[in-house]
Amino acid sequence: MTVNGSDSDDLVVALVPAAGRGVRLGGAAPKAFVAVGGTPMVRLAVDGLIASGAVDRIIVMVPPEFVSSAVALLPETNSVDVVVGGAERTDSVRAGIAAAPEAAYFLVHDAARALTPPDLIARVAAELRAGRPAVVPALPVVDTIKSVDEFGAVTGTPDRSGLRAIQTPQGFAAELLRSAYATDTNATDDAGLVERLGARVHTIPGDPMAFKITTPLDLRLAHALLDERTAGLA
Ligand code: C5P
Repeated sequence: MTVNGSDSDDLVVALVPAAGRGVRLGGAAPKAFVAVGGTPMVRLAVDGLIASGAVDRIIVMVPPEFVSSAVALLPETNSVDVVVGGAERTDSVRAGIAAAPEAAYFLVHDAARALTPPDLIARVAAELRAGRPAVVPALPVVDTIKSVDEFGAVTGTPDRSGLRAIQTPQGFAAELLRSAYATDTNATDDAGLVERLGARVHTIPGDPMAFKITTPLDLRLAHALLDERTAGLA
């Protein structure tokens, strides 16, 4: 039995990289284990994946010394597994891919995007099932972006209207992601690896709530948003 109850052969497996050290957040624990509104980010992210109803199995990649604490804080279901991540994010995702040979589709979803609405997760999965090989949520860029050289001098100003900020979950046909990870390569997101194979990556509208909790300011924002959500339920 799977998270959403299906036993089909087109299984959607979510990979949750949670093995980062979170240096920019400045906490003692790895970022994914920092609590937001009393709940560790990795638990919030996994709860969101389950609530989407679109995921059959979830694999969470954590630092080696955090395996037992991750198992203790994640939902008790045999559809959620914890594996050891790696030194780089791509190493962590590679470990997750290896743990799910049965997957037909992968959703790669950062634990640090802890408040991602389940609806966004379901929309990415629906696009995959409709035949898109690679799907990423995207938001228009609000700041002007400039390229700079090593001395800080501006070298260019790309047209903002053609730029997007990319979120997770990023969805892939499993074979495509396996191929992308078969080579020893590095990128800041998984779609970047798939693009190098020449595959077409489709964007869908992202959601501001899927922001990545990276800095102490992000953490304060996430706390405030969760407080609001809790107050709304009271
Ligand atoms: O560092 P950054 O914010 O880009 O990390 C994005 C996600 O990747 C986080 O959820 C983090 O825990 C995860 N990660 C990982 N393994 C690493 C580095 C980052 O799973 N070695």
